[in-house]
Amino acid sequence: MTDHSEQPVALVTGGGSGVGASCAKHLAKSGYRIGVVGRNPDRLDETLGSIEADCHSIIADLSAPHQCDRIIAETIEAFGRVDVLVNNAGFAAQMAIEDTTEELMRTALDTNLLGPMCLIRSLWGHFLQRGDGCIVNISSLASSDPFPGFLAYAASKSGLDSLTRSILAERPNDSIRAFTINLAAVETAMLRSMFDHEVVPPEACLHPDEVADFVVQCVRGDHDDRQGESIVLARS
Ligand SMILES: NC(=O)c1ccc[n+]([C@@H]2O[C@H](COP(=O)([O-])OP(=O)(O)OC[C@H]3O[C@@H](n4cnc5c(N)ncnc54)[C@H](OP(=O)(O)O)[C@@H]3O)[C@@H](O)[C@H]2O)c1
Repeated sequence: MTDHSEQPVALVTGGGSGVGASCAKHLAKSGYRIGVVGRNPDRLDETLGSIEADCHSIIADLSAPHQCDRIIAETIEAFGRVDVLVNNAGFAAQMAIEDTTEELMRTALDTNLLGPMCLIRSLWGHFLQRGDGCIVNISSLASSDPFPGFLAYAASKSGLDSLTRSILAERPNDSIRAFTINLAAVETAMLRSMFDHEVVPPEACLHPDEVADFVVQCVRGDHDDRQGESIVLARS
């Protein structure tokens, strides 16, 4: 039997669709074993079906943060290690300020901020023990330049940006790395659930594969000098 224990492992949340599915595929092509997290098993299976590397899916709801310890434990049990966490899963809804319910606020904060924060906490001891690791937080241009209607979403993504800075402040050495990528429009189901082609034309959007390419570059070390920066990725 082949021993894969030396092969690095990337865990991608929201790996069943859009940006997350592309990240999983591109990281697999770059030599990573892949764990994907999401609530919909069929979508995760679809991603894993297109990956030739050793892979594993974890069905979990990140808005229930107690599940985060299980996600990390299951990944380490499956692979023996975690080298990269891509905090990509996200929830977005457009709502006028006066109509923004507490439920919507909680869903946005729990999914986009509390979930990633708990995953980082669960993984931190493993990174400290190994002496290295990389976290890529998939954020949004909305954290600095929101569309109207993004009160809860933009606040949650601003918080996500802050997690990257806290990791860099607390890491014991620079082999533990962290990035924030602030995405402009990307052609995915999430975007199209809110904006039609007239408001955001397809030609103004990135393809998920372009985002995944950039994530791989971050993980590979090409952008280490941009850690902590809010790196804007937009169609030029
Ligand atoms: N598309 C854009 O224009 C754009 C712009 C800026 C930032 N972003 C960010 O990019 C990231 C990826 O989004 P996308 O555009 O690729 O949209 P997407 O295809 O809708 O992907 C979102 C993913 O998040 C997962 N997810 C949502 N809530 C979850 C929960 N509670 N627990 C676990 N997984 C959950 C979904 O999987 P399940 O439904 O199976 O759980 C889904 O795979 C998000 O963080 C989003 O905020 C996107």
